[in-house]
Amino acid sequence: MHALTLLKNDHRKVEALFKAFENADARAKKASLVKQIIQELSIHAAVEEQVFYPAIREAMADSDEDMVLEALEEHHIVKWVLSELEKMTPADERFDAKVKVLCENVDHHVKEEERELFKKVRKALDTKKLNELGRAMEAAKKVAPKRPNPRAPDTPPARLVAPIGAGLVDRARKAMRDLVKTSAKQKTARRGAAGRGKATATGKSHRPRATH
Ligand SMILES: [Fe+2]
Ligand SMILES: [Fe+2]
Repeated sequence: MHALTLLKNDHRKVEALFKAFENADARAKKASLVKQIIQELSIHAAVEEQVFYPAIREAMADSDEDMVLEALEEHHIVKWVLSELEKMTPADERFDAKVKVLCENVDHHVKEEERELFKKVRKALDTKKLNELGRAMEAAKKVAPKRPNPRAPDTPPARLVAPIGAGLVDRARKAMRDLVKTSAKQKTARRGAAGRGKATATGKSHRPRATH
């Protein structure tokens, strides 16, 4: 599939989910829609960050790279909001407000991508290359993280940035798997730290007592 078609399809899907949220009344329905929004946006952001953005940066003029850097910052904010929403329920006072602000942020970002960034991409890459890139993104989507991790790297390691055509599909998959692994490691480390914190708070710390 053409890379820009794949991304636009994702954008439309998320827009429809936000619209459904706006029209939903029941808490169970709202919770289920937000779960889907979190999953769709987590996968979409990871595919753009690990595969799409690095590939287009290689091909675009240096002066256009600022657009990608801005996009990464916008993703960063969106992923923090997603990670907060993940821990909330529709019973929380701020739940609807958070979803609304998320929707506004995503809407702004999608408009910039489709109206400005994609134009530059079409100039920098021909249809054949964009189809090849789309194939790599489809493969990456299948192994992408389904949950947000704003602390995980939002660019792939240099060794996995491949020019379009040169083993791009395999590298895209590898970059995505590395990201999932990194996220899992970070999560385990955070749990360990939280566990140690709890032990200290309840007076069960194994840290040696000061003797003076
Ligand atoms: Fe994006
Ligand atoms: Fe996007």
